[in-house]
Amino acid sequence: MVEDKVFAGCVKALKEGEELSREQWRVLLEGRTRERQDWLAREASAVRDRVYGKRVFIRGLIEFTNYCKNNCYYCGIRRGNSCVKRFRLTEEEIFSCCRMGYDLGFRTFVLQGGEDLYFTVDRLEKLVRGIKEEFPQCALTLSVGEMGREDYRRLREAGADRYLLRHETANRKHYARLHPPELSLGHRMECLMSLKELGFQTGAGFMVGSPGQTAENLIDDLLFLAEFQPEMVGIGPFIPHKDTPFGDKAEGDVRLTLYLLSLVRLLLPYVLLPATTALGTAANRGREAGICAGANVVMPNLSPKRARENYQLYDNKLFTGKEAAEGLEALKESLGALGYLVAVDRGDYCKSIESFKS
Ligand code: 5AD
Repeated sequence: MVEDKVFAGCVKALKEGEELSREQWRVLLEGRTRERQDWLAREASAVRDRVYGKRVFIRGLIEFTNYCKNNCYYCGIRRGNSCVKRFRLTEEEIFSCCRMGYDLGFRTFVLQGGEDLYFTVDRLEKLVRGIKEEFPQCALTLSVGEMGREDYRRLREAGADRYLLRHETANRKHYARLHPPELSLGHRMECLMSLKELGFQTGAGFMVGSPGQTAENLIDDLLFLAEFQPEMVGIGPFIPHKDTPFGDKAEGDVRLTLYLLSLVRLLLPYVLLPATTALGTAANRGREAGICAGANVVMPNLSPKRARENYQLYDNKLFTGKEAAEGLEALKESLGALGYLVAVDRGDYCKSIESFKS
């Protein structure tokens, strides 16, 4: 049993921005109790409030293709899943998602898709330019997987502001347990480096409770985040999808996910931290719980129904009600009841914010 004094010492070090050792991270992970978790959630919320206020940023998620050339063992839209009904939104459909989102108050659009060979850099570049031309005051986030540096450069030049590419796991062995041999952690990391160097606000992240994941693996993830200093971090529980090799594996632990959100908020006070769809799927009011643990972003879905229904990364993925943009009012209400206000600006990463004094 980790002693209170030892646990509190590690929390203090984390809050003061000290670089934590493996052993200190281990204390934080192994010393988790209900009381300590609740305490950390309050601490994390207080840090988030000091940086961003009681504001939750919304991102309009557009899932524009579920074609994917990759075959990740955990993912429902993996190439090898022949049960998936594949779809691609047309350019017109993508624009109409943005227009609808804009009218609802969204000022960030996230274009997310599988690694679809149809969407070449040329096509993506054109899309990015078009969206930025019509919505110059909006931020555009891409989440379309691994590419070469030159491709990323062109997309950045075209006007993309942010890029989400979860590292998935920072441990080489665990990476190999989750992915086929043609995918490597080394290349994933190279991509993340390029994105950052090119000036994207860059998002990393990982699943909690993916098959075979150990506490040591999570420590690797936290050490990686501390070193990489991403502007955004996506963390959600692993949820099995029946038509994947991991179909019969156990779901990731929701409480542990919430705890990691709090740790990441304390580690990276300025980070843009979504309460993910997976969290909202795995638990009733999961996204609200995520906000209370220190998250400050939600990403309602702007995609048309046909896309939402078929963009199933895992079983029972939310695609109606509060998850979708139609549920924005309900979301505002349930966050409002917790004391949070949905922000209407772009919600950029802001490291220089004045109000934060630790
Ligand atoms: N459960 C939870 N999250 C998943 N993702 C992919 N498949 C699953 C799953 N079965 C996550 C990955 C990916 C992001 C888009 O969704 O971390 O980066």
